[in-house]
Amino acid sequence: MNNKLVYEITDFSLENEELLVNETLFHNANGYLGVRSNFEEGYPEQFQSIRGSYINGFYDLAEMKQAEKLYGFVEEKQTMVNVADTQGIKLRIDQELFSMFEGEVLKSSRTLDMEKGVTKRTILWRSPKGHEVEIIVTRMASFVLLPLFTIQYDVTAMNFSGDLQFLSSHIGNVQNYFNPDDPRVAGESFRHIHVEKVEERDGVSLIRSRTSASGLQVATAVQHHLSKEGEIKHHIYGDSIEWDLKTSIELNETVSLSKYTIFADSIREENPSAHALQLMEEATAEPIETWYQKQEQFLANYWDHASVEIDGDEELSKAMYYNLYQLLQSAGKDRFSNVAAKGLSGEGYEGHYFWDTEMYIQPFFLLTQPEMAKSLIQYRYNILDSAREHARIMGHTKGALYPWRTISGKECSGYYPSGSAQYHINGDIAYSVINYYLVTKDLDFIAKYGAEMIFETARLWLDAGHFYQGQFMIHDVTGPDEYTCVVNNNYYTNALAQYHLQWAVKFYQLLQANGQTAVLEKIQLLPKEIEEFSKAAEQMYLPYDADLDINPQDDSFLSKRVWDLEKTPKDQFPLLLHYHPLYLYRHQVCKQADTVLAHFIVEDAQSLRTIENSFHYYEKITTHDSSLSTCIFSIMAAKLKEYEKAYDYFGESAKLDLFNTHKNTKDGIHTANMGGNYMAIVYGFAGLRIKESGYHFSPFLPDKWTGYQFKVHYEDSVIKVKVNSGSCQFTLVSGREKTIHVYGQAYQLEEQLSLSLEGK
Ligand code: BGC
Repeated sequence: MNNKLVYEITDFSLENEELLVNETLFHNANGYLGVRSNFEEGYPEQFQSIRGSYINGFYDLAEMKQAEKLYGFVEEKQTMVNVADTQGIKLRIDQELFSMFEGEVLKSSRTLDMEKGVTKRTILWRSPKGHEVEIIVTRMASFVLLPLFTIQYDVTAMNFSGDLQFLSSHIGNVQNYFNPDDPRVAGESFRHIHVEKVEERDGVSLIRSRTSASGLQVATAVQHHLSKEGEIKHHIYGDSIEWDLKTSIELNETVSLSKYTIFADSIREENPSAHALQLMEEATAEPIETWYQKQEQFLANYWDHASVEIDGDEELSKAMYYNLYQLLQSAGKDRFSNVAAKGLSGEGYEGHYFWDTEMYIQPFFLLTQPEMAKSLIQYRYNILDSAREHARIMGHTKGALYPWRTISGKECSGYYPSGSAQYHINGDIAYSVINYYLVTKDLDFIAKYGAEMIFETARLWLDAGHFYQGQFMIHDVTGPDEYTCVVNNNYYTNALAQYHLQWAVKFYQLLQANGQTAVLEKIQLLPKEIEEFSKAAEQMYLPYDADLDINPQDDSFLSKRVWDLEKTPKDQFPLLLHYHPLYLYRHQVCKQADTVLAHFIVEDAQSLRTIENSFHYYEKITTHDSSLSTCIFSIMAAKLKEYEKAYDYFGESAKLDLFNTHKNTKDGIHTANMGGNYMAIVYGFAGLRIKESGYHFSPFLPDKWTGYQFKVHYEDSVIKVKVNSGSCQFTLVSGREKTIHVYGQAYQLEEQLSLSLEGK
């Protein structure tokens, strides 16, 4: 067993807050379905629980209340739906019901095994009457059969023989979580799902439900397998079915209950109920152990590509594996789904997809599993028509504007200053397509999908911006920093738009040269437009302050009052929960990396000196109230050779969820931060930059480590990068030889290249 691949907590408290966080940390997901890790038997009544099961991309519509109805304001949002509850299992031994809150818990632990792809709850319990049982509950969301979720409930009698009863529930009447005091989750309760049919067919319970407003259907099928003879009955109570499984247990005997759930939905299947039943047959045709084996094989392959090994820091290494595992659990694997801000682990941000995917998560998949990156782009292609419609609503006569947050394509942000105004989403998506091309050189994919997205979003810059005194300007947009909204010439937005427009021209030329011009005809892209793209890119205005030698975040940023972060009481963070937005906007204070992020992704737009000065300027006024921030500061500190700082920022981002440092892990994991954590090693410590001239590395080793290693895909090849004290090694694991650049020098990588390490 690889110890780094096991995350375990023992003797955890039964405090409600901690239980809620653990529901998130130990959730099971596979990119299609996600189930929070609640106790099967439930908590005491007065406890709060976010007991949810979700399907990626499956949504209902809800009214978005706007106090004033101005033109184009979003009036309806999509929201991820809690679809059914199939986690319930109550255990009765002789006449006593098992509960962690009664009798005595002699031992307990919760484990996530990332090699096997399962979570485990292990409990040694003494009942009030003195019966001792060991309970091991193993849960799996299958990576091989995505609609399959299993719970295996093993009970061993330690000091008695007696009766054993499992009461296993399948509940259709479920609701979503809400909190009116937190803008980061839904504010109101609403019944999103209505049960249409509850039935039992040959030992399988089937619940079919429909969403209230979006009219989508979901079916869940549940079937049990008991390891020994017993009596099995079921009862239908309203919208739920309870299975009653009775047997006996002898001293030292282990009795196992396997509970299979299949999820199916009408976005992907014409008849979800029939599909669920058919898949249930497939799933139960094999013993559960076979599914475990397949899961382990799948993960062996995953880790072979995705691992980042850190030597010399057990804790950070484990945190890194945890984060990479969560990325796999979160990422949608079809064109209907993407990666929600909280993955499939909770209801924070209502299951919406943001720029988080393109800027923070996709880089990981692109370098480790390019096919996954492709599928994430395909989702964006799938919603391109909605982006065109959104552009019209926002007043643009041409082009496409991607929604700031969405599930199936429509804009879902209620507060436009830090929502729809974030036009940089177009540049972010274009950036991810460009990166996909730079890593894979897959021009066919660009011709078929990518180019249309690039051109349509490029057209929007021309419509949103304008030429003024020989410069191209983009007014009234919001950059990534949500504490500074609706500004003129946000540096990040303009720099990214420039890069985007330059690439629109390059793709046009590449497609022309290869005779792949169908897309140009499809969207009637005229040579005149290409000239305009070129001109706007050349004349793009990038704010610069000569006195400070920095890039101001926007036109008015430097003239605002500077927020004194040192004097701000600790309990006032995150600022967004304690200050009116306008008060924040009037200050120089940043929620997250903005110009600093621009300097990472388009580093050649400025001199190193300007980048360095800007970093130090923004560092003093950035709160990192967004979890998308410290990883970027880590990458840039590494570039500026401030290695200790890079390490500290990395540490903060690595432990964010495991230590609940943002205090909202109960609402779900922070997937962008997890991807950012990967980037901090690969782009930060190893200094990777992907350019037209190829891969550039510039590795350093943090003092506290003895080494680290990872693999990256590059066109048809896989390259292993290994850094030890004193040396860095590049090995061609597969594919053809490549030219790579290390510390600014070009090398031909045929088999292996070993260089001495700089920067210690
Ligand atoms: C950040 C955004 C991010 C969103 C979802 C917000 O707090 O400011 O940049 O996209 O969270 O993760």
